[in-house]
Amino acid sequence: MAERLKLFFWVFFVLLPNPAKSQLDELFLNGFKGVGVASNLRLNGAAQIQENGVLQLTNKTQRLLGHAFYSNPIQFKNSTDGKAFSFSTSFAFAMVPEFAKLGGHGLAFTISPTKEFPGALPSQYLGLVNNTDLGNFTNHIFAVEFDTVQDFQFKDINDNHVGIDINNLVSNKSAPAAYFDDTNSSIQVLNLKSGQVIQAWIEYDSQSNRLDVKLSPSSTKPRSTLLSFHVDLSLILQESMYVGFSSSTGLLSSSHYIMGWSFKMNGEAKSLSLDQLPSLPAESKRKNSTGVIVGVSVSAALVIILVSGLAFYLIRKIKKADVIEAWELDIEVVCGRRPIEHKALPEELMLVDWVWEKWRLGGIFEVVDSRLEGEFDELEAVVLLKLGLMCSNNEPKARPTMRQVVRYLDGELPLPEAVEAPQGGT
Ligand SMILES: *[C@@H]1O[C@H](CO)[C@@H](O)[C@H](O)[C@H]1NC(C)=O
Ligand SMILES: *[C@@H]1O[C@H](CO)[C@@H](O)[C@H](O)[C@H]1NC(C)=O
Ligand SMILES: *[C@@H]1O[C@H](CO)[C@@H](O)[C@H](O)[C@H]1NC(C)=O
Ligand SMILES: *[C@@H]1O[C@H](CO)[C@@H](O)[C@H](O)[C@H]1NC(C)=O
Ligand SMILES: *[C@@H]1O[C@H](CO)[C@@H](O)[C@H](O)[C@H]1NC(C)=O
Ligand SMILES: *[C@@H]1O[C@H](CO)[C@@H](O)[C@H](O)[C@H]1NC(C)=O
Repeated sequence: MAERLKLFFWVFFVLLPNPAKSQLDELFLNGFKGVGVASNLRLNGAAQIQENGVLQLTNKTQRLLGHAFYSNPIQFKNSTDGKAFSFSTSFAFAMVPEFAKLGGHGLAFTISPTKEFPGALPSQYLGLVNNTDLGNFTNHIFAVEFDTVQDFQFKDINDNHVGIDINNLVSNKSAPAAYFDDTNSSIQVLNLKSGQVIQAWIEYDSQSNRLDVKLSPSSTKPRSTLLSFHVDLSLILQESMYVGFSSSTGLLSSSHYIMGWSFKMNGEAKSLSLDQLPSLPAESKRKNSTGVIVGVSVSAALVIILVSGLAFYLIRKIKKADVIEAWELDIEVVCGRRPIEHKALPEELMLVDWVWEKWRLGGIFEVVDSRLEGEFDELEAVVLLKLGLMCSNNEPKARPTMRQVVRYLDGELPLPEAVEAPQGGT
């Protein structure tokens, strides 16, 4: 009986078309398992619906894209006066990163003229755009990003934020992820990459041109808004748009899940009851961060630098020789440059050499990304750069073993005072 009732609910709520316009008015999905659900969703990239009804946008493989959009376009504007309609949505999501403290990268609720994103990039682009169409008004993309990596190119505020994006990954407005506890009117930090199920509400009121975003780890919509933005979406949206989710992983990766989704045009979407949603697959429960990461307490930016290299190492189980590559990647992130930077001065072209030159001349802090604006622990930066230089040495014998690297990072072994030139010369 209960089963039948459930089935009835699926069918009843999946599609509530407006008979006059024969278009979707409301969507209410307690999981993605019901009759007709899969056929009404367009999945691509890594996105798939799991047996128990969880929509998985990405798994922990590097550089994945995952898209899940409602199959049919939805009318978002009044065809007479071109004014955008109000809409409201809520969904429950969870992010289970490969390494507990490092997200990779995030997901975005998206309204777009297409449900396919050919040429879109993973990593910080979240599967929405690429470098060519980034910021172009012709994209007509509106997104609310849930981003767990701080990307300097896109002026991200931290590695745990919610942002409102229009045609671009530089957010028009963003806020650190948090929720308001109405019982004692306090604001609580919410860790997006904790693996915890979080419900998000996004509501647009076309009368006041106001867009509100709220978060909560519970089923109840908080009264207070986390992020509020004044915008007339009539200028951004087209009449016919697709609605859904986009997600990506980068060098650091994370499984991104949607457990339930509620959406309504011209009205308030029903909130989801978290206890009625399918649960996360057990095998995906977050594994503890490796011993490598534990015990290294460096500032957030430097943790990313450090571990991206080690993650790289662990994931690919690379040979010792390849440690060079991983550490060049680290140097790249510390310095905010690519190993070979075309726009740099010729003498800065080879990053490792450049870092070495600065080291030799005593100006090591000049190489730390100016965008960090001096906000880094000098001692930790020295340790990282020193290790980077040691690991980048052309002479295999001069490079530390992975075991030594880990012991240096854990502070078990003091780093040698002098570092050899990476090219064995100078
Ligand atoms: C992750 O997703 C990718 C793309 O769909 C797939 O090729 C790969 O096998 C998946 N990995 C795991 C561990 O499921
Ligand atoms: C569309 O706009 C026209 C003119 O402002 C208005 O009369 C009509 O009610 C609107 N239609 C809807 C569905 O809001
Ligand atoms: C960038 O993305 C757009 C839209 O998705 C696509 O049409 C274009 O081909 C892409 N450009 C490249 C260089 O991949
Ligand atoms: C934006 O995209 C359109 C269409 O693809 C293109 O014609 C235009 O040059 C682009 N604008 C910029 C500033 O790149
Ligand atoms: C939001 O971002 C878009 C794209 O960068 C820009 O065109 C627009 O002016 C921004 N709007 C506001 C209100 O900042
Ligand atoms: C409010 O309540 C939460 C638990 O619901 C608690 O963690 C928090 O410390 C409280 N804040 C204040 C300011 O009392």
